[in-house]
Amino acid sequence: MAILKIARMGHPVLLGKAAAVTGPAGPEIRRLLADMADTLEDAGGVGLAAPQVHEAWRLFIYRVPAARADDAQEMPLAAVINPVVSPLPGPVVLGWEGCLSIPGLRAAVPRHTRVRLTGFDAEGAPIDTVLSGFAARVVQHENDHLDGILYPMRMTDFRYFGFNEEVSSYPPALPESETS
Ligand code: NI
Repeated sequence: MAILKIARMGHPVLLGKAAAVTGPAGPEIRRLLADMADTLEDAGGVGLAAPQVHEAWRLFIYRVPAARADDAQEMPLAAVINPVVSPLPGPVVLGWEGCLSIPGLRAAVPRHTRVRLTGFDAEGAPIDTVLSGFAARVVQHENDHLDGILYPMRMTDFRYFGFNEEVSSYPPALPESETS
């Protein structure tokens, strides 16, 4: 068990393009995934991408806790190696996001409501699934980390950007959808 140091916004590792994992996941990648799971558990988030722990590989872990499962099912922690996230037809909606690399803040970020996620799990088995709602949002956020994109770079309205405590105290009403 190891809890890794999480890179915060401003560290260049968060701005680079991560490298694809070649071949089946070896012991180093498996160890990284296990340490990332420990780190996410300790930090209390819903997703973590390898560049956030200073490892520029194309992989992330994510989960959908019961409290956040909207139209999607609760999902246990899953790892995705070499993910590809493709938008599916449907609206783009604003929703609240935080990021362990941007502690204390949250913002409303436009995301596709439905996506297809492909990639490989830690055992090398292919993943090919359609996600919607919060789960779709999480994988879009995590996949962006692999391309050096942080959520503020996706924002369209900076009025919906604030400190967690303030946004909780004065929750702004969000428009239903941006585009379709
Ligand atoms: Ni993040």
